[in-house]
Amino acid sequence: MIGRHKHCIALADYSREEILEVLDLAVSMKEVLQRPIKKVPSLRGKSVVNLFFEASTRTRSSFEIAAKVLSADALNWTSASSSVTKGETLIDTARNLEAMRPDVLVIRHSAGGAPQLVAEHVGCAVVSAGDGAHEHPSQGLLDCFTLREKLGTLEGKTVAIVGDISHSRVARSDIHAMTKLGARVRLCGPPTMMPAGVEALGATVHYQLREAVEGVDAVVMLRIQHERIGDPLIPGTREYSKLWGLNAKKAAEWLRPQCVILHPGPINRGVELSPEVADGPQSVILDQVQNGVAVRMAILYLLAGGNPADAGEAKA
Ligand code: CP
Repeated sequence: MIGRHKHCIALADYSREEILEVLDLAVSMKEVLQRPIKKVPSLRGKSVVNLFFEASTRTRSSFEIAAKVLSADALNWTSASSSVTKGETLIDTARNLEAMRPDVLVIRHSAGGAPQLVAEHVGCAVVSAGDGAHEHPSQGLLDCFTLREKLGTLEGKTVAIVGDISHSRVARSDIHAMTKLGARVRLCGPPTMMPAGVEALGATVHYQLREAVEGVDAVVMLRIQHERIGDPLIPGTREYSKLWGLNAKKAAEWLRPQCVILHPGPINRGVELSPEVADGPQSVILDQVQNGVAVRMAILYLLAGGNPADAGEAKA
């Protein structure tokens, strides 16, 4: 369990304390990853099924590595090579995999709400690895972990989230988690990519990049989620890059020197971020990827009911 939760589906439902429970445990998990032998027996005898209906590099790999470092068995399932191609439904797929007695189902799906639907039909723990434009809770948690590591705290800090806010599940999870941890969040992007009423989540809305990023402690750059967009919402990527992309000149003129730059990946280089900025000294993008393993270890440990007798080995 994470606080009151058997599942990890939406940070909107998590309290500040429940978010901190994961982040604090992830500190110990990260220490395990620095050891020469990256293996602890905390989830020995447990199993995790990765059920991915959409492509992934970072999330699927890091959930698999996280499970294996904790000594759980991990099975990777992809829809393209499954009986979904023969017409099997999401619920039937999940119930059949659950019949094989995994402890955790990690699910990514293009439909918002799919992990919740699965959770209502299976007995094991369910973790969302991103559902439609709804939420990507483990990304929100690893972004907060990275900011705590780099800034010390989120309390009183200001974070700008820039890009296609409407279609970004990362933006939603980041807003929920960061505001609960005491950060001020500014949202910036084209008006056609800004959801109506998003201020109700506790963020401010900006349409000029300079206004959004000047003076902030961190910037989260997002890619345009072309796979979730029907008709074009912007004239073209060149215009987008000019107005909302971050290059070395804008970073040097508008960002504080200590401001850190995040991106959940995959990056569209030359669109939302120039290569010099993506690979530059203010970028913490690969730290995010590394921290993703530690945060996902913490999530799996808490939800799979890690053996308390073995927890000390992760913390030792
Ligand atoms: N950040 C993220 O979700 O990346 P992947 O799509 O590669 O998993």
